Amino acid sequence: MSDAPLIKAARALASAKHAIAFTGAGISAESGIPTFRGSGKDSLWSKFKPEELATPEAFERNPKRVWEWYVWRMNLIRKAKPNPGHEALAKLEALGVIKAVVTQNVDGLHQRAGSRHVIELHGSIWRVKCSNPACTFKASISEPPKEIPPKCPACGHYLRPDVVWFGEPLPQDAWGEAVRLAEVSDTILVVGTSGAVYPAAYIPLIIKEGGGTVIEVNVVESSITPYADVFLKGKAGEVLPKLLEAVTKLL
Ligand code: APR
Repeated sequence: MSDAPLIKAARALASAKHAIAFTGAGISAESGIPTFRGSGKDSLWSKFKPEELATPEAFERNPKRVWEWYVWRMNLIRKAKPNPGHEALAKLEALGVIKAVVTQNVDGLHQRAGSRHVIELHGSIWRVKCSNPACTFKASISEPPKEIPPKCPACGHYLRPDVVWFGEPLPQDAWGEAVRLAEVSDTILVVGTSGAVYPAAYIPLIIKEGGGTVIEVNVVESSITPYADVFLKGKAGEVLPKLLEAVTKLL
């Protein structure tokens, strides 16, 4: 990647009145967590069927099977560490350059890297909630449940991961805050997302339609690239530290 796009992106971030970051599974790839699509044979949806694991119907049909998959992912994530990409975003927030990270990821690595204002559009793998719509039980967990599927201590129904499955609405508070932030932002740094899943993928579009600047970091082109003002081709863990350095020089 030549310096020109990097300098253009750094100038946009350094002069932004209100910039946010928007991230997907690609920012956690270098932490050893497989993405869902693209990037070869390791992507999750090339090995597993989302309709068997990430839908309310799948959970209804076979809660144990769904929990086995989430326990596998939890164990993977527990061993993972934030990578220089996560750390660079946390430093950009500490410098006041970005005001928040809106993420589609459920792994909690942004928070572990030190990002303070993180909006989790698709929930968190480190939270469980009761599958009984009439029950409001929710809890944070730091390790996989001992028995699966775990039972709700309040009503006895099965507990489920507090993540957004296909066909489910996004958490209202997270979505509302993400849209509010996007509407007041003039710059967005999009990292490691295919842009394939809505409504999350509307977030960068709000900035674009508001006349703002879209900067994208990805190893290949995505659905975002056609409307990105700057495309920084490369791995998040390599590009973001360079972007941080270039921005810091302009502050
Ligand atoms: N650095 C930057 N980008 C990367 C890297 C990397 N090291 N490795 C992979 N990528 C890019 C891929 O090129 C791809 O464009 O990350 C993107 C990952 O795309 P997806 O796997 O589709 O992940 P994401 O966009 O987050 O998916 C959105 O889909 O299945 C649902 O709920 C799930 O939140 C997820 C949503």
